[in-house]
Amino acid sequence: MNITDRDLLETRAYIAGEWHRNGAAFPVTDPATAEVIANVADCGPSEMAAAIAAAKAAQPGWAARLPAERAAVLRRWHDLMMAAQDDLAAILTAEQGKPLTEARGEIAYGASFFDWYAEEARRIYGETIPPHAPGLRLTAIRQPVGVVGAITPWNFPNAMIARKVAPALAVGCAVVLRPSELTPLSALALAKLADRAGLPKGLLNVVTGLDADGLGRALTDSPDIAKLTFTGSTRIGRLLMERCAPTVKRLSLELGGNAPFLVFNDADPEAAANGAMTAKFRNGGQTCVCANRLYVQSGIHDAFAKALAARIDALRIGPGTEEGVAIGPLINAAAVEKARAHLEDAVARGGTLVTGGETGPGTFMRPALIRDVPADALLTREETFGPVAGLVRFDSEADAIRMANDAETGLAAYLYTRDLARAARVSEALQTGMVGVNTGLISTAVAPFGGIKQSGLGREGGHQGAEEYLETKYICTSIS
Ligand code: SIN
Repeated sequence: MNITDRDLLETRAYIAGEWHRNGAAFPVTDPATAEVIANVADCGPSEMAAAIAAAKAAQPGWAARLPAERAAVLRRWHDLMMAAQDDLAAILTAEQGKPLTEARGEIAYGASFFDWYAEEARRIYGETIPPHAPGLRLTAIRQPVGVVGAITPWNFPNAMIARKVAPALAVGCAVVLRPSELTPLSALALAKLADRAGLPKGLLNVVTGLDADGLGRALTDSPDIAKLTFTGSTRIGRLLMERCAPTVKRLSLELGGNAPFLVFNDADPEAAANGAMTAKFRNGGQTCVCANRLYVQSGIHDAFAKALAARIDALRIGPGTEEGVAIGPLINAAAVEKARAHLEDAVARGGTLVTGGETGPGTFMRPALIRDVPADALLTREETFGPVAGLVRFDSEADAIRMANDAETGLAAYLYTRDLARAARVSEALQTGMVGVNTGLISTAVAPFGGIKQSGLGREGGHQGAEEYLETKYICTSIS
C-alpha cells in the first residue's frame, strides 16, 4: 500500500483512548487481489463493554465543555483528514476497492461533516415558550442524548462514520463505533487522527471484530447506550429495532434504497445519461442511493439507451489503484452473485442485454445495461447493489410515478425533465426522502440525507443531523 504516514495504518482497536490488542486478529483483504493487507484486533463483547464504560465516563465532561471548544477539536480533525487525504484514500481503496479518485472524494466528503458540525456545534438553540398560566417561565432546552452506539457499513468506510460521529460529538455525545469487519482500517485511521486532533480519551471508541452479532448485541442490550445509529440493510435494521426495544433506545437507521430514476421525453438525453452514470455506477453501484430502476419515457427511450450504452462501454474496469479506472472490484463474491442473478432474471423475463455483465477475474464485473426490463423483474423489486442498469419503458407521467412508488423502500429518487412544473409535481409525488432533479449526485454534509418507508428513520447531514443526537427538556419554573 502506497502511504506516506505508516502510522495511519493502525490494526489495534481504540478503547478508552488506548490502542488495544488482545491477541486475536482477523484478516482484512484487498478485494482487487484477494490478498490479506492487515490483521486487525478481533474484539468481543467484553471489549465492547469496556468501550461503553469509557464513553459513559467521558461524556458528561465533554457535554459540559463550551461548544466552541468542541468545535475546535472537530475543526482540527477536519484539517488533519484533508492533510492526510491521499494516505486515507490509499487505505480506503486497499480495503474497499473503489478507484482512488473516488476514495479521495470520499475523504473530502467525510471531512466535510467535521467542518459542517464544527459550525453547527455553536447553534444548538432552545426555546422560551409563552406560559399557559401567570407566574411561570417555560423553556425547552436541548441536551445530548448521551452515549451513542454506531454500526457502519463497508461501502463508504470513512464518510458513513464521519456522518454519525461528527454531529454526535459536536452536540456533546460520546460514541462507541463498530465498523464493518470488511473495512476496519479506515475507521482506525480516523481514530488515529481524532487522537492527534486532541479528542479527549473515551469519547470515540472503535471496537473492531468479526462477531457482528455479539458486538451488536453488546451495544443494543446495554442500558448505557442511549441511542443507536446504523447504516446498512433493511433486514438488519429491523433486527436492531427489535433488539433496541427493551431499552427503548433512540434510533437512526439509514437502510436499503432501490432508487427509481425517471427520464421524461423533454429531458436532454445526454445530460440524463451523464446523471444516470453517476447515480448508477458511483462506487460500482454499491451505494444506498444508487439508481436501481431506470424508467424511461417512450419518446426518449432509444436516444437515452444509446447515450448510456456508449458511456458504459467507455468505462475502464480494474484495480482502484490504477490510473483511469472508473469501476473497481465488487466487495466480495456474494455481491457479484447477487448482481449476476438480477441480470439473469431480467434477461430470462424478456429483457435484452445491450452491453456488459461479464464477471471475473475475482470479484470484477463489467457494468451491464439491459433494456425492456419488465416491471416485475428482480432488478426493479430489490436493491441490486452492483453495476447492473435496467431500463423500463413508460408512457405517461402517472405510470412513471406509480411504478416508482411501488416499493417498500423510499430513500432517493431522480428525475430528468426540462419542464419546471413537472419537476415540482413529480418530486412532490415521489415517496422518497430525497429527490435529485436533473442531477445524479445529491449527497452533501449540508442537507438532510435519509429515507421514508422501510428505508429507515432519521436524517444525517444538515442541521437535522444534529437533532438526532439531542433530547428536548422542558423546564417549567415558577417565578411568582
Ligand atoms: C450510502 O450508500 O449509504 C451513502 C451514500 C452517500 O452518502 O452518498
